[in-house]
Amino acid sequence: MRIAAWGRATPAEAPSLAALFQRSEAVAPVDLEQRAEDVQNRLAALGPDGAGRTRVGRDDTGAVAAYGEVADMGTADDVLRIRLTKVFHPDIADDVRAELHHWLIDQAEQLRADRGSARAVLGTRCAENDRTGHELLIRGGFALVRHERHLVLAVPDSPPAPVLPPGLVLTPVDERYDELARLAHNEAYADSPAAVRPDQRTWPQHATGHPRFLPDLSCLLLAEADRGDNPVAAFLFALADGSTDTPTAVLHCLGTRAPWRRSGLATAMISRVVHLARSSGIEQLRLQVTDSNHPALALYRKLGFVESGRGFAVLMRQLTPEAAEQP
Ligand SMILES: CC(C)(COP(=O)(O)OP(=O)(O)OC[C@H]1O[C@@H](n2cnc3c(N)ncnc32)[C@H](O)[C@@H]1OP(=O)(O)O)[C@@H](O)C(=O)NCCC(=O)NCCS
Repeated sequence: MRIAAWGRATPAEAPSLAALFQRSEAVAPVDLEQRAEDVQNRLAALGPDGAGRTRVGRDDTGAVAAYGEVADMGTADDVLRIRLTKVFHPDIADDVRAELHHWLIDQAEQLRADRGSARAVLGTRCAENDRTGHELLIRGGFALVRHERHLVLAVPDSPPAPVLPPGLVLTPVDERYDELARLAHNEAYADSPAAVRPDQRTWPQHATGHPRFLPDLSCLLLAEADRGDNPVAAFLFALADGSTDTPTAVLHCLGTRAPWRRSGLATAMISRVVHLARSSGIEQLRLQVTDSNHPALALYRKLGFVESGRGFAVLMRQLTPEAAEQP
């Protein structure tokens, strides 16, 4: 299958893109949005200058057969993080894949220059069974950095009430704590080099401004006697998920700052979600976790999560002005 015409993605194309995403997910899962509404939100999250960094390819019948996107994921430690997304109809020709890959690298370089960043890192997902996509990335200088596992938990009918560790207060995630929650998030993930650590600009789309943010299932744990300058000891952000027929919530990000670890805080926050899930109409929880994150894997397994088999690989590459000039 070949591409007859390329253009930019527009909100009106969300249904066609969702159809492409569904088709691609059926054979090579990387956890893409499945509903037109979610694809539309994805495009909106790219920001006002984001449409120019998308590319939609149509075959000679006018059907959408390829999609590419370059997204600004924020700057941490003076490094701009850029997410590349490529989605293809399963029958697409190999040279179309290569052409879109090169276009994405050029766009990423343009984004780095526009943001005035000397250093940037590119990250992209690749389905575990997508050998062609994997080889193309390795030839393009990308290296495998991690495997993401996809875990699920069927919500039990009458889960026990969560037990809050002493000295902590549970509070909703709201504007008052927005910046403190961001700092707590980035501190908790500081030892996870591959994790996204949003800056103030990209934090809203990662957290409370996410279009699928679920305020009732999200929470912060505040320390009554603070052990530092930030009372936010732990956080959990949950999202709605419309990608399956089973009503599902996504544990999008959760963490406990180092001084409070191994005191049951993450257990308390997840148990609260499980406890509230049924009354919110949720029957299943799901999440992604890096396979090298042994503490988190142990936590989820202890709470009954099991692997769904829909994991994917994440590959990364440095993007410096010198690297961009290489063939
Ligand atoms: C993973 C994380 C959220 C755990 O938070 P926590 O509040 O310390 O977790 P809990 O105290 O509720 O731990 C519950 C269980 O999880 C497992 N666990 C937690 N940390 C562990 C560790 N470092 N090593 C082994 N098992 C661990 C244990 O089974 C533990 O029970 P136990 O203490 O009775 O043995 C925390 O380490 C963290 O914030 N990590 C960085 C951010 C992150 O990776 N988030 C998850 C992304 S998917």
